[in-house]
Amino acid sequence: MQVEHEFTQIFMKKFILDLTVTDNIRLHSNYVLLKLTHADTLPDMLPGQFAEIRVDDSPSTFLRRPISINYVDRNNNEIWFLIQLVGDGTRHLALAKQGDNINVVLPLGNSFTMPKEQSEKLLLIGGGVGTAPMLYLGEQLRKKGYIPTFLLGARSANDLLQLEEFAKIGDVYTTTEDGSTGEKGYVTQHSILHNSHFDRIYTCGPKPMMMSVAKYAKANGIECEVSLENTMACGIGACLCCVENTDEGHLCVCKDGPIFNIKKLLWQI
Ligand SMILES: Cc1cc2nc3c(=O)[nH]c(=O)nc-3n(C[C@H](O)[C@H](O)[C@H](O)COP(=O)(O)OP(=O)(O)OC[C@H]3O[C@@H](n4cnc5c(N)ncnc54)[C@H](O)[C@@H]3O)c2cc1C
Ligand code: FES
Repeated sequence: MQVEHEFTQIFMKKFILDLTVTDNIRLHSNYVLLKLTHADTLPDMLPGQFAEIRVDDSPSTFLRRPISINYVDRNNNEIWFLIQLVGDGTRHLALAKQGDNINVVLPLGNSFTMPKEQSEKLLLIGGGVGTAPMLYLGEQLRKKGYIPTFLLGARSANDLLQLEEFAKIGDVYTTTEDGSTGEKGYVTQHSILHNSHFDRIYTCGPKPMMMSVAKYAKANGIECEVSLENTMACGIGACLCCVENTDEGHLCVCKDGPIFNIKKLLWQI
C-alpha cells in the first residue's frame, strides 16, 4: 500500500501552466489568498504537494517560489495559494489582479500519507502560514470519511487565517501567543494534547514548532509527518540546495519531501 502510494507520487506528471487569477483576497495586511484557474481541467494534486510559482516583473526575484497547495476547488476548477508577504517575490505575487496570468509548475513533491485504519483519530497542526497545506489535507481526509481535528496557532488573532473554511471540515482549536483568541501560548501547550488521544499527527509550520510537535508525538508513540520548508531553488531535485539529513543520507526536500515521517529525520528531539 505504502509502496503503491510512493509509486503514484514519483510518476505523477508535472505541468507547466499559465493559470489565470480569478480572485486575490487580502486576508490581512501580510497575507493574500490567490485563486487561479485554467481553461483545461486542473491536474490531479495530492495534499502536501506544492507549486513553483514564477514571479514576473520583479527584477530581484530570479527563481520561482515554492508555495503549498492550499486547496483545490474542483467545482470551480480553481487552485488556491495562501501567501505570506515576506520579501520581493511574495510581495509581487500579492499584486496580481483578476485576469492576470501566473506561470506555475505543479504538482511537485510527495504528499501526506493517508491513515491506515478508518478508526484513526487525526490531528492536523498548523503554525502561521504553515496552516496552508492543512486545508486541502483536511478536505481530502473528510472525503475519505474522517473528521479531522485542527490545531492552529499564530502570533495573534489576525494571523489565524481561513478559520471558517477549516470549521466546515472538522473541529478547530486555536492558540495565539498574545492570547487574543483561543488558548494563550504555543500549539504544543494546548490542553487538547493532554485531554484527547490521537493516532496520527500531520504538521506544518516554523521548524521549532514542528520539532516540538515531533517531540510530543515521539514521546506518546504517535505517527507523525512534518512538511519541511527548506529554502529551495530548482524545486525538482537538481541543485541540491534543499537537502535534509535523514536515516537514508541527504535527501532533497523538494523531490523526496516536503513530507517526512519524523522517524526518518535525524532531529535531536
Ligand atoms: C515546500 C514549501 C512550501 C511553502 N509553502 C508556502 C505557502 O503555502 N505560503 C507561503 O507564504 N510560503 C510558503 N513557503 C515559503 C515561501 O516559499 C517563501 O516565503 C518565499 O519563497 C519567499 O520569497 P520572497 O521572494 O518573498 O522572499 P525572499 O526575499 O526570498 O526572502 C525573504 C525572507 O524570507 C525568508 N525565507 C525565504 N524562503 C523561506 C522559507 N522557505 N522558509 C522560511 N523563510 C524563508 C528569507 O530567509 C528572508 O528572510 C513554502 C516553502 C516551501 C519550501
Ligand atoms: S531545490 Fe534544487 S534540489 Fe531541491
